[in-house]
Amino acid sequence: MSIKGKLILSNIAMFLVPLFLCIVVFLGIQNLYLKKIHSEYDVSTNLKKRSFIMNPYGELRFINLKKINNVAAKLERSPEKLEDINFLKNVNSEFSKKNSYIIVKKEKKTIFDGGKNESGSTDVNLKLSQSNDRITKMPEFFMSSGELIGREFSIHLSDGTQASMFFIVNTSKLFSIYREFITALIASAILIIIFISGLLTFFVSRSILIPLKSLKKGTENIKNGDLDFEVKSNSKDEIGDLCEAFNDMRKKLKESIELQNQYENNRKELISNISHDLKTPITSIKGYVEGIRDGVADTPEKMEKYINTIYTKSQSMDYLIDELLTYSKLDMNKMHFDFQRIDIKSYMEDLMEEIRFDVEKKKINFSYTNNIKEKAYVKVDVQNINRVIMNIISNSIKYMDKKEGSIAVSMSLKEGEVIIAIKDNGKGISKEALNYIFDRFYREDYSRNSLTGGSGLGLAICKKIIEEHGGRIWAESEENVGTNMCLAIKICD
Ligand SMILES: Nc1ncnc2c1ncn2[C@@H]1O[C@H](COP(=O)(O)OP(=O)(O)OP(=O)(O)O)[C@@H](O)[C@H]1O
Ligand SMILES: [Mg+2]
Repeated sequence: MSIKGKLILSNIAMFLVPLFLCIVVFLGIQNLYLKKIHSEYDVSTNLKKRSFIMNPYGELRFINLKKINNVAAKLERSPEKLEDINFLKNVNSEFSKKNSYIIVKKEKKTIFDGGKNESGSTDVNLKLSQSNDRITKMPEFFMSSGELIGREFSIHLSDGTQASMFFIVNTSKLFSIYREFITALIASAILIIIFISGLLTFFVSRSILIPLKSLKKGTENIKNGDLDFEVKSNSKDEIGDLCEAFNDMRKKLKESIELQNQYENNRKELISNISHDLKTPITSIKGYVEGIRDGVADTPEKMEKYINTIYTKSQSMDYLIDELLTYSKLDMNKMHFDFQRIDIKSYMEDLMEEIRFDVEKKKINFSYTNNIKEKAYVKVDVQNINRVIMNIISNSIKYMDKKEGSIAVSMSLKEGEVIIAIKDNGKGISKEALNYIFDRFYREDYSRNSLTGGSGLGLAICKKIIEEHGGRIWAESEENVGTNMCLAIKICD
């Protein structure tokens, strides 16, 4: 999943999961606190949970009136009980179990105060009911001072006086329970949010931070020159892509460093080869010249042999220097091209005849096949194209390792291009080397020995020349089977 997707999902989860957990925990806590209220107060069982969360006063509506109504009914039947202290004590002890008590007032004088024992003082400013019609009816609960609420029951005594019994409920516990409940709700909500957001942050950041750490380690490895490692990442997101790109970059960097090293080695090798290749013929030329000067070549035959050797040696020096000069001219775009429109078929026939002679001298079979029926013209610099083909053929000869060696040249026409393919059955080129053989100074390891000789400039020169002709050059090869070098040059009218 992408990082964007992960963040969206974690944000949704960050909202929904705590919400769900809060609801579950809230319901649990509420049940707990409702049980507590039931144990402390005489409330009816149809107490609605919601009312408690919204407003603790809601509870007041659920104060159980059954007991109060019973007492009121008894008093209605026998009002004189209102002055019976034992009866009042009994009633009060019933009520006092659930944070409530009774007060009895006759006229304005308190004749019984059931709350006195418990809370020390119930000096409550209780108003006696003023209206007569409320005497037998049980009025609503009223709020008295502070945390006390009450319900008044008034009755006319036989002596004509009015007396009232007050049922008082002390709500102080209810409010402390409510405060505890709200605190528990807020605390659990905060804990849930902290826990869930911490958990989600941990998981999301873990999936980002771990690969980032290995990327950081990777950059340190590269900084220290270590390119033989792999940054592992299983994630399929942007970070995974980044790790893959990083691995690609490391591979490319490694390849380019290896290539650079190869070039560097080739260059060193080249300098040493050139020095050696120039030094050897010069030493022998010097030797032969000294021989002539000192009169060692005292017969015409000896003299001829000496002079021929001097000539061959200077020729190979000339070839090497020529190759170096050609490459540097091509490299600096200073090579002059003399393009001519030629009939490629007759040109190739002549050139192949010349080459056949050289190749067969080396005991290698040679064949040339022309597959072009119609007339075909190309615009080329004949000398340079000669050089390219000779170079390729000389490679085929140089890297031939078979007893029954063969070189087959073929020419065909394809999509407006003349394709010349030079196929040999020599030692072939490895897959890795195939990418580099057209680079200057590149020589495959096994051929970098003194037996084959060479500068690694041959194919680089060929490529530059063909590119100057607007053509293409490429190689197909299989190790130990052979190589097929192909040239493509556009035909012209
Ligand atoms: N026909 C071939 N068969 C096998 N290997 C080849 C062939 N042609 C080229 N190569 C490989 O490609 C490398 C580059 O060839 P290139 O002609 O550029 O250099 P060279 O032959 O080593 O030196 P130079 O041509 O400058 O004397 C060679 O060193 C050889 O390893
Ligand atoms: Mg060569």
